[in-house]
Amino acid sequence: MTQPGRRAVLVVEDDAELRQTVCESLQASGFAAAESPDAKDAIERLKGFAYDALVTDLNLPDGSGMDVLEEALSRYPQIRAVVVTGFGGVADAVSAIKRGAVDFLIKPFQLTQLARVLEASIDQLRLREENAELRAQLRERFRFDSIIGRHSTMRQLFATLEQVAPTNSTVLLIGETGTGKELIARTIHHNSPRADKKFVAFNAAAIPETLAEAELFGHAKGAFTGAVSARVGRFELADGGTLFIDEVASMSLPLQAKLLRALQEREVQRLGESKSMKVDIRVITATNSDLRHLVREGSFREDLFYRLNVIPIRLPPLRSRREDIPLLAQHFVNKSCAENGIPPKPITQEVLQMLMAHPWPGNIRQIENAMEHAVAMSMAAPAIGPEALPEEVRSQTNSALVPVVSIPDEGLDFTAVVSQLERELLTRSLEKTGGNKRQAARLLSLSRTTFLDKLQRLSIEEAAVAPLQVESGN
Ligand SMILES: Nc1ncnc2c1ncn2[C@@H]1O[C@H](COP(=O)(O)OP(=O)(O)OP(=O)(O)O)[C@@H](O)[C@H]1O
Ligand SMILES: [Mg+2]
Repeated sequence: MTQPGRRAVLVVEDDAELRQTVCESLQASGFAAAESPDAKDAIERLKGFAYDALVTDLNLPDGSGMDVLEEALSRYPQIRAVVVTGFGGVADAVSAIKRGAVDFLIKPFQLTQLARVLEASIDQLRLREENAELRAQLRERFRFDSIIGRHSTMRQLFATLEQVAPTNSTVLLIGETGTGKELIARTIHHNSPRADKKFVAFNAAAIPETLAEAELFGHAKGAFTGAVSARVGRFELADGGTLFIDEVASMSLPLQAKLLRALQEREVQRLGESKSMKVDIRVITATNSDLRHLVREGSFREDLFYRLNVIPIRLPPLRSRREDIPLLAQHFVNKSCAENGIPPKPITQEVLQMLMAHPWPGNIRQIENAMEHAVAMSMAAPAIGPEALPEEVRSQTNSALVPVVSIPDEGLDFTAVVSQLERELLTRSLEKTGGNKRQAARLLSLSRTTFLDKLQRLSIEEAAVAPLQVESGN
């Protein structure tokens, strides 16, 4: 109906002269105008052709323009309808608007005004369609783009998300702090058919136990001391959308029982109210604890565990996917530079090595903060150097010595790689001590016998060390 080109408009008016003038004026404004003298004829025409717009008098000889409007809107909900009425018909005009007409005009009206009203409403429709299109594109782009990771565990995660997101399945996200549980929960929502509805988050650890129940289920006015007004619970808020319950393990046993009931019945009852209401929600929960362990311990209900654990998704800690560290670091540097209005800058090799060696107990949130810090500390510098890193990352000297090993797709020979590293350490220590084995053993915190034993096993000749000694100038 809204292809570019001439818009088709049907003009329904019993006064032949007025009808003629209106049509001519609309033609002059670029519309293709068709005309009808009464309701019966108009309804016939509407059955046969999808007009972009309708202009109808409300007072027609064989009935009401309201019937024409009804027919038009029920067939073509997008049709732009303008009703025309005499001076006494304002009340009718208002009810026409309520039924879906876009505007009304009172006779006598300016012809230019009619064209303007029609054009504006058609433009508005086009904008709305374009917006819907943009939103769809945005969703398409959102997909998994905000989740960075190439490690095999992340690839698996993407595959799982692709399968799970479009369903209604209950998802349990398990991961250490900062591994992206909330990000994944939002991503699932935005890639689900519920994307247009709300994503409502509830953090069970952040709300005192006494208030948690009222938060989740809502309450009536006066339900308890301090309930000065009624409150809509998170369950109700999320109706049609997704409810994300974070840190679900911190719920008390009584609250767990109530949650279980609500999930089973898909029904909630506000505190202090007797009637319950149906809710249509998808539930995603997250935890950084081992729920099975808590079940064994008796602090988490087993039945609730099974209800939540339908699709468990484990988020890997950053230290177990070190290959992703450079990618994430650069991503966060670029993001932070953009926020500071400066062009993105590279990370020096030295910094990358330190980042690779860091244990990252706070996972992605920690590396995000570290990179934000680094950008702020090196606003004028051409690259991110070691001095820009937060102290806690810089001071991990011990692990910074351990070389970064990446495992090739075809795998590697564990024993050979470890021997290689041992050989490297023995050789370097001998180099450093000018071939003094006792000192070299001490440098490596090894007993002299173990050191000698290893030297022999790896058949490291002192001769092999000697040239290096000369080279290094010791
Ligand atoms: N794979 C990823 N790619 C890019 N950014 C990520 C990724 N995972 C997490 N983040 C970012 O790291 C930060 C922490 O993630 P999020 O809040 O989702 O973690 P969480 O597991 O919910 O942590 P907590 O348990 O502490 O609440 C967020 O800013 C998030 O956008
Ligand atoms: Mg979180």
